[in-house]
Amino acid sequence: MQPAYYENFEEIQKKLWFMLDDAVINRSSPFRIPVFICANQNEIDGRIVVLRKSDKSNNVLQFHTDLRSQKVDILRKNKNASLVFYDKEEKIQLRVKVICEINNKNSVTEEAWKKTQHISRRCYLTDDAPGSVSGKPTSGMISKLEDFDYTMEQSEKGYENFTVIKCNIKSIEWLYLAAKGHRRAIFDIENKKQNWLVP
Ligand SMILES: Cc1cc2nc3c(=O)[nH]c(=O)nc-3n(C[C@H](O)[C@H](O)[C@H](O)COP(=O)(O)O)c2cc1C
Repeated sequence: MQPAYYENFEEIQKKLWFMLDDAVINRSSPFRIPVFICANQNEIDGRIVVLRKSDKSNNVLQFHTDLRSQKVDILRKNKNASLVFYDKEEKIQLRVKVICEINNKNSVTEEAWKKTQHISRRCYLTDDAPGSVSGKPTSGMISKLEDFDYTMEQSEKGYENFTVIKCNIKSIEWLYLAAKGHRRAIFDIENKKQNWLVP
């Protein structure tokens, strides 16, 4: 039997937003770690990020990063990007085209920073920027950071680098692999249109 979302736009939307919402709270969800792709001219790159927020009503997805990271530089030059998700069990791929907003030291980061845990704050406390060349193998952290030997108060310094990338969705492309026949659909959020595509 085919699932309800096999040939139904509404059911597809329900399913994909359920999967995105679940990924934010469920560490074992494959949708939790999409590939984020951005580009500036010939500088095209993809990397894994952790999905931190999913907001269906505003068509927004969010992840966290360091203001000094290379992807932020790329986004400053070109805010168009893409997120790619795949769930092997569900056999569902999403390709999400987005327009990115870089948030640093504003109300968006304030809200997100409050929810970050002691353990994850050390990522934002390195002396050198992520991607800096090092003469030796390194975590980039002084030993106190490596040993989690810092107080919550000391970790507040990381807020300066803490950045929330707000991804405003332009379109979502759905692909469902099924033995009976794959199904592919495009949801054009900007123009409020949806269509089936040949897989
Ligand atoms: C499982 C996993 C989760 C990751 N999550 C994030 C993340 O949420 N934010 C982030 O900036 N980098 C994350 N990274 C590291 C990035 O993939 C990447 O190596 C780093 O951000 C540097 O990328 P850039 O030089 O393109 O900025 C993660 C890597 C892995 C393997």
